[in-house]
Amino acid sequence: MLPLSETNAIATESARAQITRRLEALIDHERCAFYMKHVMSKSYRVAVVGVTGAVGELILRVLEERQFPVRELVPVASARSAGKTLTFQGATHTVKALAPEVFDGVDLAFFAAGGSISREYAPIAAEKGALVIDNSSAFRLDPDCPLCVPEVNLEAARNPKKGIIANPNCSTTQMVVALKPIYELGGGIKRVVVSTYQAISGAGAQAIEAFKQQSLDVAKGEAPSGTEKLKGQLAQNLLMHWTPDEASGYQEEELKMVHETKKIFGDDSIRVTPNAVRVPVLSGHSEFLAVETNQPLDPAAVREALASMEGVVVMDAFANGVYPKPLDVVGRDEVFVGRIREDVGNPGGITLWVVADNLRKGAATNAVQIAQGLLL
Ligand SMILES: NC(=O)c1ccc[n+]([C@@H]2O[C@H](COP(=O)([O-])OP(=O)(O)OC[C@H]3O[C@@H](n4cnc5c(N)ncnc54)[C@H](OP(=O)(O)O)[C@@H]3O)[C@@H](O)[C@H]2O)c1
Repeated sequence: MLPLSETNAIATESARAQITRRLEALIDHERCAFYMKHVMSKSYRVAVVGVTGAVGELILRVLEERQFPVRELVPVASARSAGKTLTFQGATHTVKALAPEVFDGVDLAFFAAGGSISREYAPIAAEKGALVIDNSSAFRLDPDCPLCVPEVNLEAARNPKKGIIANPNCSTTQMVVALKPIYELGGGIKRVVVSTYQAISGAGAQAIEAFKQQSLDVAKGEAPSGTEKLKGQLAQNLLMHWTPDEASGYQEEELKMVHETKKIFGDDSIRVTPNAVRVPVLSGHSEFLAVETNQPLDPAAVREALASMEGVVVMDAFANGVYPKPLDVVGRDEVFVGRIREDVGNPGGITLWVVADNLRKGAATNAVQIAQGLLL
């Protein structure tokens, strides 16, 4: 006779086999496959408007890198680009000219073709049922459209009233990521002084080409070309070439940082003092920030909080020459922070240096992260 322990083991084994056989009989494999394909594995018909531009092209790359489940891509640009081909996920796609019909059946639409295009077509896409994520400034301050940086306020973007979510200005985005733990540690932010050093890729694909040519001209000792496109000579120079706001004396680019920061934190009491400068750098925006919080802050605590934050890389060993530079961040999705120190002119305040890829975290990556956060 078998010992009791072995008898139990055999009984358990045969019970398991019986249960497995019964379960297998119950499973309708065809139904299961259908469920897995269409319900469990979400996949979306995705339009990218402005797909031939600096931001639109990068949205495709970020969707690929993050393996966003795109069932079908609808690449859209102006009539000038209609018929051009591009590659996405190994397949060739033909660019369509923008028209209301391109949004038929679209689940998710990224807009990166400028404010006037967004103002006209984003509501059409939303009306046809697409969730719109817009890179332009058209809807950023619309109270019915969330303005979202996922690390800071993803929850605010759920169930947007108009079906449109705005991506902030590139300079605002990298700033608010770095400010998020400072806001929490300091019991709120009283004031931020921000000086930007903005790369030319922030002005789009044509500006990039104009800057490259202008740099070659100047290096050869020739008259700089492209001064109309760049609104001046950027090679060997600095420019403040954004649209001026005559009433305040600021540039519109600077005022975006003032208003967008308040909206993203949901805190109108934050005072922002901005100054925006275009620098002769191809890609990668840099910013100096001086922050004053409600409670005084210790730089070591700020460094620790930033280092533990997802989406932030702390590069801060200044005595050894370690601090983030534009060339360190191009092609990266994170916001890089260095030179975290007490504000020598305002004890208890913090100053820091914040650098990010403006086309990625400042535009394409942030837009795709919003879609990932809301849909996956
Ligand atoms: N660059 C950045 O760092 C950055 C950061 C944040 C936000 N943004 C915003 O993102 C948007 C795109 O910027 P970008 O730098 O990518 O500009 P861009 O390189 O100049 O690209 C513009 C895109 O818009 C398309 N377009 C222009 N007119 C059109 C029309 N009438 N109908 C349909 N498509 C049209 C262009 O298509 P064609 O090639 O056919 O002309 C191109 O694909 C802007 O609103 C910008 O403010 C840019």
